[in-house]
Amino acid sequence: MADNNLRFDGRVVIVTGAGGGLGRSHAIAFGARGASVVVNDLGGSHTGEGASSRAADLVVDEIRAAGGKAVANYDSVLDGDKIVETAMKAFGRVDIVINNAGILKDVSFARMTDQQWNLIFQVHVEGAYKVLKAAWPIFRKQKYGRIINTTSAAGLYGNFGQANYSAAKLALVGLTQTLALEGKKDNIHCNVIAPMAASRMTETVLPPDMLASLKPEMVTPLVEYLCHEDTTENGSIFEVGAGFVGKLRWERTGGHGFPIDKSLMPEHISSEWAKITDFEDGRATHPTSTAESMEGIMANFENVAGEAAARPKVVSADGKVDVEAAKSLTFEPEVFEYSERDVILYNLGIGAGRKDLHLVYENNEAFGAVPTFGVIPSFTAMNSVPFGEILPSFNPMMLLHGEQYLEIIKPFPTHGKLTSTPYVVDILDKGKGCVATIGVKTVDENGDDICINEFTMFIRGAGNFGGKKEGADRGAATAVNQAPSRKPDHIVTEKTSEDQAALYRLSGDWNPLHIDPDMAAVGGFEVPILHGLCSFGVAGKHIFKTYCNNNATSFKNIKVRFAKTVNPGETLETSMWREGNKVLFQVRVVERDAIVISNAAVELQGEALKSAPSAAAAAAPAAAAAAGDFKSAAAFEQIKTGILAMSSADRQAQVKKIKGIFQFDITNDEGKTATYHIDLKNGEGAVGSGPASAKPDVVISVKDSTFVDLASGTANAQKLFMSGAIKVKGQVMLATKLGDVLKANKSKL
Ligand code: NAI
Repeated sequence: MADNNLRFDGRVVIVTGAGGGLGRSHAIAFGARGASVVVNDLGGSHTGEGASSRAADLVVDEIRAAGGKAVANYDSVLDGDKIVETAMKAFGRVDIVINNAGILKDVSFARMTDQQWNLIFQVHVEGAYKVLKAAWPIFRKQKYGRIINTTSAAGLYGNFGQANYSAAKLALVGLTQTLALEGKKDNIHCNVIAPMAASRMTETVLPPDMLASLKPEMVTPLVEYLCHEDTTENGSIFEVGAGFVGKLRWERTGGHGFPIDKSLMPEHISSEWAKITDFEDGRATHPTSTAESMEGIMANFENVAGEAAARPKVVSADGKVDVEAAKSLTFEPEVFEYSERDVILYNLGIGAGRKDLHLVYENNEAFGAVPTFGVIPSFTAMNSVPFGEILPSFNPMMLLHGEQYLEIIKPFPTHGKLTSTPYVVDILDKGKGCVATIGVKTVDENGDDICINEFTMFIRGAGNFGGKKEGADRGAATAVNQAPSRKPDHIVTEKTSEDQAALYRLSGDWNPLHIDPDMAAVGGFEVPILHGLCSFGVAGKHIFKTYCNNNATSFKNIKVRFAKTVNPGETLETSMWREGNKVLFQVRVVERDAIVISNAAVELQGEALKSAPSAAAAAAPAAAAAAGDFKSAAAFEQIKTGILAMSSADRQAQVKKIKGIFQFDITNDEGKTATYHIDLKNGEGAVGSGPASAKPDVVISVKDSTFVDLASGTANAQKLFMSGAIKVKGQVMLATKLGDVLKANKSKL
């Protein structure tokens, strides 16, 4: 037996038509589980004639006799506001409305009068409306409400002699689904049941032995469950009776899309009729929202006969894909014209700030786009590829951006007109889906190559087309090893803005998934997610700064895999490892400790290679540099010796007091940088070259000579900070302890 723990203490329930049948059962059950119940019933006949207070009174007496709280209301549901008023007067609130009242006026459609039609609509539809209209503002204000409407199999499927009743009952399903959407944000849930129970309504219709098994008490528990505060079910339809409970949904065939630029004739419909009505061909879906219902229609917007007819057919009638034919397809180029404004907008979209003048100020002499801007001119071209034509079944909601490769051939002008032409690189058959790589070549007005993109997409449900599983390796840049096991050579951390996606989309990716909470929900996301190419840009910006000195000619190409999605506002941490002419990197969302970009690298060229450490030196670049050219190296050695000279207790006390990891990015006169850390957060403290093993709390950028002055006590940390000679990122307050740290440890020398 399940525990009897679904309680309704303190809740107030209105049950309409609760004088008998199902309503009575609902009212008594809620009363027994602690709710205060408004027992509404007009007390008429089952065809709506007459009125009496007796029906409601008897149920109220029954609830009270069992120790429950209840009041009667004898109004018609057409006066729904009076029923709600009864609840407010007696109990001061309303939490749950069960729209159950109903009558029948069965007659064949041929003989149905307007009065019979109208009366049924009044009691079932207008009645439910009136009660809910009065309760709704109360629900919204208290941010809580549970609603059950009562439909019928007759409404869902039709029933002979019940045209009026069927139509009215299905109206309640529509009402339920829209109220579920409108109420959701205020914790108002609305579901609808199609019950089957013995009552005076059914006793004339069903045989007596069946009626005996159809107790209303076998319907009520579902109503109680759906109305409980812990239940999240919303906008759903249930069939319930004789102990059976099942959920109902829509199903739509895969259908057929006709070209939109040709006239459509009934003969066309006729010729595709088998496909239009086939639920068994494995293409049927279950749309759950208006947005999902529109997918088929939206996808057909691309179904243009003119262009498509001119191209060779890639997908055969039995769903096989001729990948070689796909690769030979040619598509129209897309022109992208842009100005400095677009460059600034893009740079802002990937987190550039007002102080990054070379990225946000067109008059700055180093002004230009972060090289990852290369994805922007090519985006529309990639999107213009008619996936429906090259894949066996294509649904845009099933598409995930898997990988991105971008090669810069010539740095981007700050304004200009670029032309991008897409082509199919490969389509791989992964069974459950396919991996389609679309290349885009971008040229400038002189026809000179500017960049090449490869967008790799995973499309769920578009596999099993008889293609190969693995693709050819397309060169060194696309084959990226996992991150090395050693500590990263550099780490850059950046908190994205809550508005990052809202800003980034203005650069051309208008997918509503990134802005519209409803569309994000359809995709299964809690909030509109950040564009993968935005995180890609943020990481690219970090590498561009760290290794290319913001010089576009040093950045050869970039390749990433999108491992997980990012929500706007999360902190991105780019870890970088230099391996020869490559910077391997990965990006982590700090808040969730999730790797969001993996298998990623940037290939360097030009100036960046001149200062390149050899492969061996790359393993410990900071240490190698520190040993030779940095005066600070000696200072750090002294601090280290100082710390080691302290007693274990003193060291622990110091860690307890400071509680912070300091990272020092030191630049010498030749412009070389070295990194050191002082960890006064973990264990007994540690000093060393390179970054600390954990994330620093504060990063201090300072000149080599300045640091020496600081460590020797000849310079004042606060003054240096105020004058800009020390730059501090992270917990600035911690940096104010720097003087103490250096002094304390030096005094032990
Ligand atoms: P019932 O006739 O026993 O109960 C309906 C109650 O509503 C009656 O007590 C009646 O006095 C009351 N009522 C009628 N008009 C009213 C009005 N204007 N204002 C206030 N109260 C009013 O019938 P039953 O079977 O319990 O039906 C309950 C609900 O379930 C109805 O909406 C019905 O359409 C629906 N339903 C029932 C099925 C069944 O198998 N019993 C099948 C499908 C739907």
